[in-house]
Amino acid sequence: MIVNQMFPADLFAGKCVFVTGGGSGINLGIARNFAALGAKVAICGRTQSKLDAAADELRALGASVHAQAADVRDYARLETVINETQAALGPIDVLVCGAAGNFPIPAEQLSSNGFKSVMDIDVLGSFNAARAAFAQLKATRGSIIFISAGMAYVPFPYQVHVGAAKAGIDMMMRNLALEWGKHGIRANSIVPGPIAGTEGMKRLGGSEYEARAQRAIPLGRYGTVDEIGQAAVFLASPLAAYVTGTVLVVDGGSNLTGSASFGEAIEALMGSAG
Ligand code: COA
Repeated sequence: MIVNQMFPADLFAGKCVFVTGGGSGINLGIARNFAALGAKVAICGRTQSKLDAAADELRALGASVHAQAADVRDYARLETVINETQAALGPIDVLVCGAAGNFPIPAEQLSSNGFKSVMDIDVLGSFNAARAAFAQLKATRGSIIFISAGMAYVPFPYQVHVGAAKAGIDMMMRNLALEWGKHGIRANSIVPGPIAGTEGMKRLGGSEYEARAQRAIPLGRYGTVDEIGQAAVFLASPLAAYVTGTVLVVDGGSNLTGSASFGEAIEALMGSAG
């Protein structure tokens, strides 16, 4: 892991990091990066077996771990798990709101309930986590990192629900940065670009458009899960003590080229799915 060579190995020693959706993908990568720097890590998600496997991975990095299932749409359950985390690991210093839902679908085929489902997971779920962790974050003068996406800024085919949800997340982030700054709480977002090995990218894998899509990224490649983890480490660290209310785009410059290149790949995927 590159992060160990960049930051002191005890940078987050004694700190507690809570990651929603931390059982897999980018969110687990973020949890790993904090664990590698001495943090105690709590993860939640919908599936306990997935969380248990992720917890083993995090413990192997030396972290104390709390891993309990909670659907971020269920405020009462999430609040219980967040309170249990404080009892098990101490108050939360860093909250990462990563839980999200996504599937590509033409807007005219998306049901009202499908739209609501993604809004509920992404927007309401992120608010629920921030709201439930507020007292702990106030006590620690902690920070919140939201996981946004490029489609919050540039419309992307078949992502009307995700674009709306992620734009909502980023405005919520700014509101919380404004309101909670007086408590010493910072709030920021990360916009990950296309990240290798994630579920979304695996779905595009093997597409004849994949190589072209990678070439269209100014840095010429997909990002890595650890590159997002390192951005989260930066935002939560003392290096970013005066950074709040901002969006850190970690996408190899993808946003500079719009959605056309990936649009083509998604069109092909949707076409092959019938
Ligand atoms: N295509 C079209 N509609 C979909 C869908 C898909 N792939 N997945 C869910 N929906 C719709 C359902 O049809 C339903 O609407 P309806 O009642 O009008 O039929 C609505 O969304 C809720 O469906 P449900 O099965 O209850 O989903 P959920 O709310 O429990 O979970 C997701 C929604 C997005 C989390 C789920 O689709 C999923 O697991 N996706 C893959 C995993 C994922 O998104 N990971 C995150 C990557 S960023």
